[in-house]
Amino acid sequence: MNTLWHGRFAEQPDATLMAFTASIGFDRRLWRDDIDGSRGHVAGLAHVGLLTAAEHDAVLSALDQVYDEMDTGSFVFAPSDEDIHTAVERRVTELAGPAGAKLHTARSRNDQVATDLRLWCKRELRLVAARVVALQRVLLARAAADPITALPGYTHLQRAQPVLLAHHLLAHGWALARDVDRLLATVERLDVSSLGAGALAGTSLPIDPAFTAQWLGFAKPFDNSLDAVSDRDFVAEALFDLALIGVHLARIGEEWVLWTSEEFGFARLDDRFATGSSMLPQKKNPDIAELARGKSGRLIGNLTGLLTTLKGLPLAYNRDLQEDKEPLFDSVEQVSLALVALAGMIESATFVSERMAAAADAETNAATDLAEHLVSAGTPFRDAHAIVGELVRRHLVSGESLADLVAADERLGPDAAALVAPGVAVQRRSSPGAGGPAALDAQLKSFRTLVDRDGERVQ
Ligand code: ARG
Repeated sequence: MNTLWHGRFAEQPDATLMAFTASIGFDRRLWRDDIDGSRGHVAGLAHVGLLTAAEHDAVLSALDQVYDEMDTGSFVFAPSDEDIHTAVERRVTELAGPAGAKLHTARSRNDQVATDLRLWCKRELRLVAARVVALQRVLLARAAADPITALPGYTHLQRAQPVLLAHHLLAHGWALARDVDRLLATVERLDVSSLGAGALAGTSLPIDPAFTAQWLGFAKPFDNSLDAVSDRDFVAEALFDLALIGVHLARIGEEWVLWTSEEFGFARLDDRFATGSSMLPQKKNPDIAELARGKSGRLIGNLTGLLTTLKGLPLAYNRDLQEDKEPLFDSVEQVSLALVALAGMIESATFVSERMAAAADAETNAATDLAEHLVSAGTPFRDAHAIVGELVRRHLVSGESLADLVAADERLGPDAAALVAPGVAVQRRSSPGAGGPAALDAQLKSFRTLVDRDGERVQ
């Protein structure tokens, strides 16, 4: 077998070496970017006279043919194709002959793979951002469609104060907005061409990395060849962005597991977005929500795995860096699947507003409003807190209604008792950005503006 490096070796590589070190099994998905990178590279070589116009054209049409073969699935991989770069170059040389053998002039797989991966990330991370925006649009649509239903807001998963369902849904939307921002910032930072760094130190040949950077649509070329071939910060950053999206989706997932339980009963899943049990005939399970929660473990693992690989690596390229790709591909794929599935699940689910309202209207959820009522009349908050706390305790011990106890208390009285009535407490969450109806319109408006703007940014 003819490896790219066979000249130096008297013997064929051992099968175990190829089995262990080959990356073709996973890096073949870089094929578009590898071919694009090579198109830019040969344009650069022709630009500085390292390829004649005829050689340039011959290599370019061979690259076009390889593109078609890859695209249609007719490309035949050879046992010596240890990675996608080898496969493309081998086939180009078969097709273009001596001109093809010039393709790798002034280039190493080290600057090539870094360039490929940056091209891949620029496209794919933007697509992930677009999927995040699509989920935000679902949350926005459901929030805008129901400005009335309230549910308890929780701290420590104990009922605290009622909030509007719309407010609750948008809380996740704002977290996702930061994810979109982070992905786009990562793309902006990684928009640097590594091509021309060579194996590690550049080349004696008169190449023009700024030309190829521009040709390939990068914002700029690298500044330091050692850094260019060994930098995988952008992969680590992408994995962090994706892991944090995973953490956000896990929080949404956990919530829907709770909401769809009989104990909460706040939401019902559409049959198309729920699963059944192989043994228990009555079951309807929220598997999408559970996996949205569960996948976060693997996404965090992908990040910590890569950081551990990178830690302590000497400059410049080391084969360890090949370990960057599988976690990246996996995280992009899993986050993408989760975003789309969750969006469908939330879009099609039914909210059970009566159950939410019943929970939101529990008398004790108005306790803070009672304390604030006393504060408005001049009672120091700490004293008000103690007065209401004591009434709540009496209510819980005696089973008497809190409203009656409040009405009978001379410090509070019937005006205060009205605050405990159903639907009142949520109305009173009226400060800026709060969970009641007074602040909702402004929030819906600014969230819609943001999502529309982000929708354009991810195009
Ligand atoms: N498959 C390799 C990787 O992903 C390509 C670079 C190989 N470079 C080398 N010097 N062996 O990192």
